[in-house]
Amino acid sequence: MKFCIILMLWLGGKTRLSSGSFADVYTIHIKQPPFKLAMKSIRNPGTFAAIARELEILLVLQPHELVVRYFGYSQQGNDDFCRVNLFFEQVDGGSLSTVFPSDHHTIPGDVIRAIALQINQGLAFIHKFNVFHRDIKPDNILVTASGVCKLADFGLSKQVGGSRSQTHSGFLIGTTVYLSPEAIQTQRYSKSSDIWAMGCTFQWLLTGQNPYRTISRDMNMGDTLKQIEAVKTGQIHLPGPPWPENIDFPPSQAESYRNACFTLNPIDRPKAGQLAEHQYFAQLSLEDQRSALKAIVASQTRET
Ligand SMILES: Nc1ncnc2c1ncn2[C@@H]1O[C@H](COP(=O)(O)OP(=O)(O)O)[C@@H](O)[C@H]1O
Ligand SMILES: [Mg+2]
Repeated sequence: MKFCIILMLWLGGKTRLSSGSFADVYTIHIKQPPFKLAMKSIRNPGTFAAIARELEILLVLQPHELVVRYFGYSQQGNDDFCRVNLFFEQVDGGSLSTVFPSDHHTIPGDVIRAIALQINQGLAFIHKFNVFHRDIKPDNILVTASGVCKLADFGLSKQVGGSRSQTHSGFLIGTTVYLSPEAIQTQRYSKSSDIWAMGCTFQWLLTGQNPYRTISRDMNMGDTLKQIEAVKTGQIHLPGPPWPENIDFPPSQAESYRNACFTLNPIDRPKAGQLAEHQYFAQLSLEDQRSALKAIVASQTRET
């Protein structure tokens, strides 16, 4: 019912935000009352049952400041072929990769720390619900004008335990360069794999580079298999890339945090809750977290 109302109000048109392999994302401009929504339109999601599980996960996580706000869905078509539109709050700054285009190298240390803590706290929150994200990366972290970082794109998430128990998928999904060694080697995901991906995202914040520069971001399955082989034969060195040179902020704590995310054995890798308490984040107030990033988003918005 909620969505009938939204659709009725959808009088102001839409603009495309992004086109991915499975989905197009639009901003919907609603005229009365004037506001914006984000609509993720999933092409051919297969049976509705498949996507319904993901919707359940989104609902379990609502509402929380560090998770994108989900309002509901509309569905077209039947069980064999359908198109599903998901409706979200419109997050003004876009994703981290929009706010910091790939040629950035100079995000101030306090901003990196603020972002890292928020991603970390967001993960600690979803892990409490036994949800693991499986595709943590800059494109899937949205930033509001007030400097809040929100986890988004739960399309690959899984909830473990209970009747939906699913501890591994049997095949690899997610963004290859952000996959943890154990996910590559065993094709099993866990909350620990999210921590590894968070380390990769941190590395990206520090350097503007993907963690493994020789590997392109959106690999096809053939290349992914080559990477698995390379990890197994030691051609790709794990854990993690070397600490970047010329990084000018509390280096020892930041490096210790980064290395903790890249703990090779997933059993020993710290949990999100523990990492949120890391010394690197000591005395970082909520106000400081937000204000650092807020200024950057505001300057981006002015430039565009
Ligand atoms: N709620 C939103 N507000 C603003 N931008 C969004 C929102 N949701 C998605 N986007 C933009 O669209 C991109 C793709 O969305 P995402 O949900 O990650 O879909 P995909 O499955 O294609 O990766 C994001 O990287 C971001 O730039
Ligand atoms: Mg995405």
